[in-house]
Amino acid sequence: MPPRRPRLSTHFARLLLAAAAVAAPTASAAPPIVPGIDARDSLPPDHARDVLLTELSCTACHGAGQTLPPKRGPDLSQVAARAKLPYLTAFIADPGATKPGTTMPHLLHGLDDSERAAAAAAITAYLASLTDERPDDIPPGQRSAKRGRDLFHTVGCAACHSPEDTELQGSPPLHRLTDKYTAASLTQFLEAPLESRPSGRMPDLKLDHFEARDLAAYLLREPAADSPPPEAKAAPGQIAEGRELFTRHRCYQCHDTGEKVEAPAEAPALADLDLAKPCTTARFDLAPDQRAAIAAAPAAPSRSHTLLTSMLRMNCVACHTAGDFSAPSPERNPHFTTTNINLGEQARIPPRLDLGRKLKPDWRRKVVVTGASSRPYMNTRMPAFGAPPEIESLLATALEPPADPLPEPPPRGEQKSARDAGLLLVGDKNLSCVACHTWKGESATTLHGIELTSMTDRLREDWFHAYMLNPSEFHPGTIMPNFWPGGNAVRPELLGGDPAQQIDAIWQYLERGREARSPSGIRREPLFYGPGDDGRAVVLRRQYRGIGKRGIGVGYPGGINIAFDALQLRLGSVWAGDFGEMSGVWRGQGSGVVNEGSREVSRLQTGPDIARLPAPGSPWPALPEQTRPEGYQFEGYTLDKAGRPAFRYRVGDLGVTDYLTDDGPKLTRTLTFAAPAPDGLYLRIGSTETAPAGDGDSYALDRGLRVGAPPATYLFEGRELRLPLAGETEITLHYWFEPK
Ligand code: HEC
Ligand code: HEC
Ligand code: HEC
Ligand code: HEC
Ligand code: HEC
Repeated sequence: MPPRRPRLSTHFARLLLAAAAVAAPTASAAPPIVPGIDARDSLPPDHARDVLLTELSCTACHGAGQTLPPKRGPDLSQVAARAKLPYLTAFIADPGATKPGTTMPHLLHGLDDSERAAAAAAITAYLASLTDERPDDIPPGQRSAKRGRDLFHTVGCAACHSPEDTELQGSPPLHRLTDKYTAASLTQFLEAPLESRPSGRMPDLKLDHFEARDLAAYLLREPAADSPPPEAKAAPGQIAEGRELFTRHRCYQCHDTGEKVEAPAEAPALADLDLAKPCTTARFDLAPDQRAAIAAAPAAPSRSHTLLTSMLRMNCVACHTAGDFSAPSPERNPHFTTTNINLGEQARIPPRLDLGRKLKPDWRRKVVVTGASSRPYMNTRMPAFGAPPEIESLLATALEPPADPLPEPPPRGEQKSARDAGLLLVGDKNLSCVACHTWKGESATTLHGIELTSMTDRLREDWFHAYMLNPSEFHPGTIMPNFWPGGNAVRPELLGGDPAQQIDAIWQYLERGREARSPSGIRREPLFYGPGDDGRAVVLRRQYRGIGKRGIGVGYPGGINIAFDALQLRLGSVWAGDFGEMSGVWRGQGSGVVNEGSREVSRLQTGPDIARLPAPGSPWPALPEQTRPEGYQFEGYTLDKAGRPAFRYRVGDLGVTDYLTDDGPKLTRTLTFAAPAPDGLYLRIGSTETAPAGDGDSYALDRGLRVGAPPATYLFEGRELRLPLAGETEITLHYWFEPK
């Protein structure tokens, strides 16, 4: 064991240092917080050195000849669009004093006070010159902060950051956020943290826009110290000076700005350094045990060493038990919750990680990179980490054979008879897997455990065999029964009662996935949702097919429904009949997709509905689904007396109100502009897969949807119907479905 850090007193010392640093901005600051190891009671001896060298990005500069990818800092090309400039100047002048615990080193420490202030101002001016956008200051609603507080303590933020009213060691600081962000810029950051911080240390919790907004309101609940002065114009030469300082002080070694830089001389290679000495260039106020760990001899490389080091670096161990590291910590444990505690502790605590033995590589990748989920009842979310180099190396290491592989699965039985037996075993007359697990989202009871039809896509066959024979060996305390206690089948009449053959039968049956015949016992209870008898429309902000997380669905009492895309600012889909079937949404944790209440859904093209075009025939700005168009801003919606939303957004400088009303099964869409639309602006009305069946004033779109618009103003480009908007202040369109 290495010398232990006296935890509590160091913690108070850090707070004291932090307080001193705020009083005297150039004083030495608190040690950097490296969550994966600092949240533990002692630095893990075998891993601390490698974790510190990478998490403090020593290897970004001392890179030559080693294989530890540095963490790297945020992308700075848009930093002035998310953070307030005075904060940036203070942070650059002395990161640790401005944000105690930050992992960004102090690089301007060699300058005297006035030189340092001038350098920080010049670098800020340079960073500000990289984008014209500045954070918008729209205050959030009051109730928003309350919802945000709940979210913070349920979705997983409190697994890494300190829960409210506590200061847990090893928590990445959320310090002075009000001085740094506005509600709008923090919302945007939280919706897509990997865009500005591609290192993935702050992962993507798959928040929808509204959740991000609520969280931002919560995090910004303390008012800002004072409002920043108006932005000063850069002095002549200041931007160029800032760019030069940015290079000279090696900022680029950890940050991208979207610009090419000329690198100065290489820093010495790690192997050539006496790591007992402090770095002369990048100042980190390391705690004594951090310094000792860096100077320690490197541990021998092995598969498990590499895997566990990666998991400490990415802080997977905040939520998952892995190797000897157990999670969650007692203080954070209460913030791990479930919607159904009848499924046991496993329903609330993220699974123990057995990387390499349990999951198929494709699924593992999907989980880690995109946060794919299989436990809808778990409130904590598996975040998306993206694919930075450290995640790639973690996934690559997981592919190497483990030291303790599981036994080979037994030979497979004949397919047809195995599948027939599997169907019986899974159903409620036999082993009744469907009592606790869902089959296409439904089960035989109110328990809705892990979905059966996708198990063979996720799990390795050898793991499945080993697990089924003794679940509690893998998940101590699980309520999942052992169906073959002591090797004896509880259903001896099937396949001679042979455990291996019965498990193989279940596997082969499940392998057919959603194509397989449903086992007996499943109760299907569709959950329809839509307008009631009160004549009011319903609005549901959720994920919709072809739109993604920022969909706003509206069910109109007249029996026609739409989903509006609040990211791309377009009408995304239209369908007739029921609004939606919600079991995927409300029986899930909220990340599910709405099933439209009809098979005939007309899906309109991606990309914004209004765009500026160089010429009427230019291609429409094509955008893949779920990407944000540049220069557009969604500004929310208001509801009329019948609960129908009027969406408001900006296209460049032009304010647009996009209001859909129903008259029976026919929709009227009124687009109103705050000023006459400028030249070159077009509305895309739709496209047809075949040539448009125009009859003068209406056109057939996809799947029986017709659109009516002002006659004689159509432009047909390729297959698109476009309307020039120049000079217009209002446009009316009508949508309806052709009778079948
Ligand atoms: C921004 C780039 C950068 C980062 C980050 C950085 N260093 Fe350095 N470091 C340098 C440069 C450049 C030198 C050489 C300075 C010189 O030649 O005077 C140096 C020198 C050193 C020295 C030699 C000191 C001496 O007295 O000879 C040590 C030891 C060292 N660094 C350790 C570290 C450690 C440990 C980390 C991470 C905690 C780190 N460095 C992070 C750039 C960096
Ligand atoms: C896996 C651990 C982890 C989880 C889970 C997590 N964070 Fe973070 N967060 C971090 C780390 C680490 C940083 C600092 C990142 C860096 O150094 O690049 C950070 C940074 C941030 C920042 C930026 C602070 C600044 O000064 O700019 C905000 C805001 C934030 N987190 C909020 C949240 C919220 C809200 C949630 C839940 C939705 C959350 N975090 C979940 C680890 C986490
Ligand atoms: C050794 C790596 C490293 C070097 C070198 C470095 N930074 Fe950083 N920087 C970071 C990290 C890590 C963060 C995130 C810290 C946090 O959130 O606490 C950061 C954050 C920032 C931020 C805030 C970004 C945001 O999105 O919130 C700015 C601005 C910044 N750095 C500027 C600079 C400048 C200017 C220099 C050179 C003087 C520099 N950095 C050098 C690692 C580095
Ligand atoms: C904020 C907490 C949190 C963090 C941090 C976290 N996870 Fe998870 N992870 C979860 C939750 C919750 C689940 C279960 C999600 C589900 O299936 O719906 C999960 C599931 C998984 C699974 C699927 C396991 C299975 O048996 O189905 C893998 C693999 C995984 N995580 C790997 C990682 C890795 C690797 C990291 C670090 C890079 C990590 N996780 C970080 C919360 C977290
Ligand atoms: C009494 C309830 C119950 C019954 C009956 C049951 N299970 Fe489970 N099963 C669970 C619970 C709870 C878990 C743990 C889920 C977790 O780890 O999140 C589980 C886990 C599993 C897992 C591991 C999944 C994973 O990704 O970790 C498999 C495989 C599995 N069950 C298959 C079956 C099969 C096949 C049957 C029928 C032969 C069955 N179960 C019957 C409750 C049950």
